[in-house]
Amino acid sequence: MQAAPAELVREIYRAGCEDRVPRLPTDLTALEDAARKVLTPAASGYVIGNAGTGRTGRENREAFDRHRLVPRMLRGVSTRDLSVSLFGRRLPAPVLLAPIASQTVVHPEGELATVRGASDANVPVVLSTGSSHSLEEVAEAAAPEGERWFQFYWPSDRAVAESLVRRAEAAGYTALVLTVDAPAFGYRPTDLDHGYLPFLHGAGLANFTSDPVFRAGLPAGADGRAVVEHWARVFGNPSLAWDDLPWLRELTRLPILLKGILHPGDARRARAYGVDGLVVSNHGGRQLDGSVAALDALPAVRAAVGPDVPVLLDSGVRTGSDVLKALALGADAVLYGRPYLYGLALDGRDGVAHVLTCLLAELDLALALAGCPTVADVTGDLLLPAGGERR
Ligand code: FNR
Ligand code: LAC
Repeated sequence: MQAAPAELVREIYRAGCEDRVPRLPTDLTALEDAARKVLTPAASGYVIGNAGTGRTGRENREAFDRHRLVPRMLRGVSTRDLSVSLFGRRLPAPVLLAPIASQTVVHPEGELATVRGASDANVPVVLSTGSSHSLEEVAEAAAPEGERWFQFYWPSDRAVAESLVRRAEAAGYTALVLTVDAPAFGYRPTDLDHGYLPFLHGAGLANFTSDPVFRAGLPAGADGRAVVEHWARVFGNPSLAWDDLPWLRELTRLPILLKGILHPGDARRARAYGVDGLVVSNHGGRQLDGSVAALDALPAVRAAVGPDVPVLLDSGVRTGSDVLKALALGADAVLYGRPYLYGLALDGRDGVAHVLTCLLAELDLALALAGCPTVADVTGDLLLPAGGERR
């Protein structure tokens, strides 16, 4: 049996008796500043930066801060079960890694180090279409029994789209997360000021350069620039619309989730199109500035699809307590984003594992302290009603 995640805390105190302390901060909100110090301005701008004024990025955090927990006592919490079931499979905790593109920008081993660190912490990853190592290489580096999902940016060329889906299936990815909030990259002043987009520097193209169908479309003897230009033609797909979904539904038996849903009307529509799950997300504030905080959009999306459709949330999740709040507001699980990338920047595989073990330890403790032996015990009753008090 695996040790409870909260055991980490005991281990740290024990190590402290031998004058050993953690190499990285255990305050997961402190990682951003630490990472900023080790990254180039262009890389930290890409990872930390938001769209427009950064309003939505800030609001994601404010929404978590605004909600307050009213814990319950005397419920017998000596053992906790963090596991959840999604699409018929058991996940160790209600946490997966959010898809983040171009990870070699922050560490030379990029997604390979991430997936190894995630395997160390027993947390599934959602691999970005824009990864800087191919989906097969990443699958190879992952623990064989670990769960992995593939985030799908639907290319404008259907033959390339089909090839990517088939490769993901063949490499053992068990769900497809179609990101729908990026018909174009958002207006990102930090990146614009640096004139910097990682893909144009070759980081994040691996799934394309390794794809036989993509390669077949390249002119003979294509150099680096020609590859990037061909990628730019194939990658974006602003014409994508609801009526394209049946094609994907036909193509694969993998569960399909739509990532980037905020409006309950879109949530209902997704159901009508046979989508299996949703990720409520504003892309961490990187797309439409002024968008509602993902956490604030969650209850209406949950209400729109009812209790049985898996609904995940990302954008602003930083701590174990944040995960508890997302669960209480109706999420089945969260995608954990930037903090693991900061761990990657600071200490590679070990940095990713550090961040995730801290998050799970805090979540495990949060369940205990809130009086919830299992994830199913986390309900809206744990939250202070807006402007009200608990009776
Ligand atoms: C992202 N995100 C993202 N999403 C996606 O569907 N495909 C992708 O390739 C990427 N790439 C990406 C790069 C970087 C540098 C960041 C920070 C984010 C969005 C990601 O999956 C998630 O929605 C956000 O990271 C959530 O916000 P926080 O919690 O990380 O702030
Ligand atoms: C981003 C894209 C790659 O947010 O999703 O940069």
